[in-house]
Amino acid sequence: MTGTTGAHAPPDPTTGAGTAIRAEGLRKRFRGHEALRGLDLRVRTGTVHGLLGPNGSGKTTTVRVLTGLLRADAGRALVCGHDVAREPERVRARIALTGQYAAVDETLSGRQNLVMFGRLAKLGPRRARRRAEELLEEYELTDAAHRSAGTWSGGMRRRLDLAVSLVRVPEVLFLDEPTTGLDPRSRNRMWNAVRNLVAAGTTVLLTTQYLEEADRLAHRITVLDGGRVVAEGTPEQVKAVSGGDRLEVVVRDTGDLVGAVRLLARLGDGEPRVDREARRVDVEVRDRVTALSVALRELEGTGVRVEDIGTRRPGLDEAFLRLTGRPPASGAATGATDTPGTTANGGAGR
Ligand SMILES: Nc1ncnc2c1ncn2[C@@H]1O[C@H](COP(=O)(O)OP(=O)(O)O)[C@@H](O)[C@H]1O
Ligand SMILES: [Mg+2]
Repeated sequence: MTGTTGAHAPPDPTTGAGTAIRAEGLRKRFRGHEALRGLDLRVRTGTVHGLLGPNGSGKTTTVRVLTGLLRADAGRALVCGHDVAREPERVRARIALTGQYAAVDETLSGRQNLVMFGRLAKLGPRRARRRAEELLEEYELTDAAHRSAGTWSGGMRRRLDLAVSLVRVPEVLFLDEPTTGLDPRSRNRMWNAVRNLVAAGTTVLLTTQYLEEADRLAHRITVLDGGRVVAEGTPEQVKAVSGGDRLEVVVRDTGDLVGAVRLLARLGDGEPRVDREARRVDVEVRDRVTALSVALRELEGTGVRVEDIGTRRPGLDEAFLRLTGRPPASGAATGATDTPGTTANGGAGR
């Protein structure tokens, strides 16, 4: 449990200073399988919080508990200052959820869907129409607004899902893998939409399997594995679990590996890692510029034939692998980032 509150968080008598979501010790069991095993979470008001984890780690279960769709077996959750189990209506009035699977009616047009959701949210007919037009405009859906939603592309559908959940601007928006399967362009649009919402004051809890997404959008990240928290902090803090910068050498032939390992063992902090197939050795180093120049100098005399050499910062993918023992999901945006990057400044740089 995180007991401390930020010194400059705005005071909020209902939730504790600047806390939009607080969960303590959440447990949930599905027929013998423990999906949540004592999960703690704190999301600060006005931020994007990334809930990151491999498939089956409990992200959706967490979201369902926090939005009142599912009752936890144990633990407690406050959303906007209200207990989710005891005051579900108060919570529901303040939040919105955009799920992986949409509630949109495919036979209706985009515009009709938005008006319908506006009416469901108790807007009057004129206000519902006006809000629909605003949202169509905002999410670049006006051109297709008259077509039935069933004919829309995946990216447009996701934007419509988001738009229907925003007919009333929520205090907290839950986004469950909003960009899974989207192409990079649609993903970028979704990211911009999230940024705009947060700029306007909404708190966003976003689940994702994409590290780049968490890295770009989230102020803080909670990494889940097996239904419990394995890391929490800013993206930079989470990355730090994978240690410092790394010096990498790719040799021409596997026969050159021995010499390279010997040198890196001497220059680096800790044991070098060897990937025989990629003919690559890497090791954590304290100062990458010094390490690189010393390595270049010393390699001259060893006869080790070097194909490539460089340093890189470990990224979230490395942290994820270290924390969960599994490589992150690959997607359109994260795609080939973990191919042997051997040039200086590879990895997480952008
Ligand atoms: N309704 C359910 N019945 C049985 N098992 C479930 C149910 N919902 C989720 N689970 C299981 O709980 C675990 C966590 O699932 P979930 O929260 O959907 O993970 P994530 O969203 O991180 O992929 C998984 O092992 C999943 O199979
Ligand atoms: Mg899920």
